[in-house]
Amino acid sequence: MLKYTVQGTHQVISNPVLGVNKTFSRRLPGENIRLIMASGEAKHKVAVIGAGAAGLCAGRHLLAEPDKFQFDIFEQQDGVGGTWRFSAHVGVDQYGLPVHSSMYKNLRTNLPKEVMAYPDFPFKDCEGKSFVHHTQVLEYLQDYAENYGLYQHIKFHKMIENISPVNPAADPFEWSVSFSDVVTKEKEIRIYDAVMVCNGHYSVPYFPEIKGLFEFKGTVIHSHDYREPQAFKDLRVVVLGAGASGVDIAIEVSSAAKEVILSHNTPPKTCPFPDNVRQQKGLESVDETSVTFLGGERYECDVLIICTGYLYHYPFFDKSCNVKIGDQKITPLYLHMFLIDFPTLAIWAVPKLIIPFPIYDQQVKVFLKFLKGLIHLPTKEEMRSHMERDFCRRKELGMKPRHAHVMPGQLQWDYDDELSKFGQIDPVPDSVRNLFRHVHHLRTLDLINYKNTNYNLVGDESFVQIE
Ligand SMILES: Cc1cc2nc3c(=O)[nH]c(=O)nc-3n(C[C@H](O)[C@H](O)[C@H](O)COP(=O)(O)OP(=O)(O)OC[C@H]3O[C@@H](n4cnc5c(N)ncnc54)[C@H](O)[C@@H]3O)c2cc1C
Ligand SMILES: NC(=O)c1ccc[n+]([C@@H]2O[C@H](COP(=O)([O-])OP(=O)(O)OC[C@H]3O[C@@H](n4cnc5c(N)ncnc54)[C@H](OP(=O)(O)O)[C@@H]3O)[C@@H](O)[C@H]2O)c1
Repeated sequence: MLKYTVQGTHQVISNPVLGVNKTFSRRLPGENIRLIMASGEAKHKVAVIGAGAAGLCAGRHLLAEPDKFQFDIFEQQDGVGGTWRFSAHVGVDQYGLPVHSSMYKNLRTNLPKEVMAYPDFPFKDCEGKSFVHHTQVLEYLQDYAENYGLYQHIKFHKMIENISPVNPAADPFEWSVSFSDVVTKEKEIRIYDAVMVCNGHYSVPYFPEIKGLFEFKGTVIHSHDYREPQAFKDLRVVVLGAGASGVDIAIEVSSAAKEVILSHNTPPKTCPFPDNVRQQKGLESVDETSVTFLGGERYECDVLIICTGYLYHYPFFDKSCNVKIGDQKITPLYLHMFLIDFPTLAIWAVPKLIIPFPIYDQQVKVFLKFLKGLIHLPTKEEMRSHMERDFCRRKELGMKPRHAHVMPGQLQWDYDDELSKFGQIDPVPDSVRNLFRHVHHLRTLDLINYKNTNYNLVGDESFVQIE
């Protein structure tokens, strides 16, 4: 069983069975550093961290205004696509970095491609399918990068290690961005006017504390390391957590396993499951051979698949950035993206349960308008009280503190409305919103088959279901 912990600026991956312990330092030791000033003083110099869906979208809009922006995209891997770059391996890659992708072999999207796409770049036909295989999403992102000429701006194999404001009392101030080459280990520092943090947040597994978990003699894996169902042939499997990973993996694993229990603390799902899948409450405890669910039932099992989500993880932020990461809550952020104390830095993909690519696109448009001085942020005090009001609203809606950035139902559209009003841009069109709502509802009725439906958008207003 692989165990992941985050200790300050370090990530530790350990395998107690093999006795392996590997620690990844994300800090510069302060040696062999070259200082390079990016040239072209008249333009905004922007650093983009990551070449996944968010970073590519940033690049596409930055490149559209070459007289205004000069930018570099830093990507630690050797290609674009981020989490969509499936890896059959788990643990660490050939350069010793933790495997970033959480994709599994058979994964198909849980949103139709008509909803997933950036507003200005539709998917290819994909044989008329709406819910496409993960390889088709990677291909889509590669096409996007190619189409907008982004490759020449991406510095591959470059891992960001430190981001800090330089002389933050100055107005405007600059950012120091330190990175190393994952192959040669050479280090550099560059100076920028703004930073777009697009490093993703579905890579560092969240393991809840479960009494007795380390006693268990069977297999324990996190969904981050799940790859295919055959590994669980004829076994009794407990899947913990009923988010998208939990339900999808439970159904997929049931095709090979003897029995699957989907254990979770949300209300029981009312849709049908395969015959060998049943639901149970969350876990009370684990012993050497079995689990005990809340409520008391004890169940002998062979495998525990932990599908309890991921941690926000920004090991490169210098202390001076004043970014606080609590239990799934990042502060202080305005509109879930602008760093209130230093708003020329913003973080992408903080909101959860959203339509990622279109919302990233909205966030990019708004951030670049802010950099160009076309829109103005409220005062820091106003931004802070806005953030507090947002958290209070969630509390009033009965949401848990750890759902500080989760946007179920109307919250996502309220967010988009607010963002687009602030940025004076068009909101996500009703056709996309309506199709998203439709699919969300369908999923609650028929988890097993909903991915077999196909759609077309009709103008900006509506959609049709096709054969
Ligand atoms: C299993 C799974 C299934 C999903 N299914 C769907 C779906 O069906 N539909 C959908 O719309 N969304 C889905 N998502 C959500 C998905 O995360 C988003 O769609 C989107 O791809 C995230 O893009 P991103 O750019 O924010 O992050 P990522 O794709 O994670 O990209 C971040 C990039 O930053 C790089 N990076 C990280 N740290 C550093 C560093 N220090 N220095 C340099 N580079 C760095 C990484 O290597 C990576 O390339 C799924 C997510 C998961 C995990
Ligand atoms: N395309 C696909 O089919 C597909 C498949 C998998 C994942 N994804 C995507 O991948 C991303 C991550 O999804 P995810 O499901 O891994 O993470 P997630 O959305 O964060 O869900 C994790 C779930 O685990 C629950 N949980 C946390 N601690 C728990 C505990 N101690 N006991 C029981 N349950 C616990 C959470 O409940 P609380 O929220 O109440 O804490 C939540 O429901 C999402 O964007 C998702 O859409 C897509």
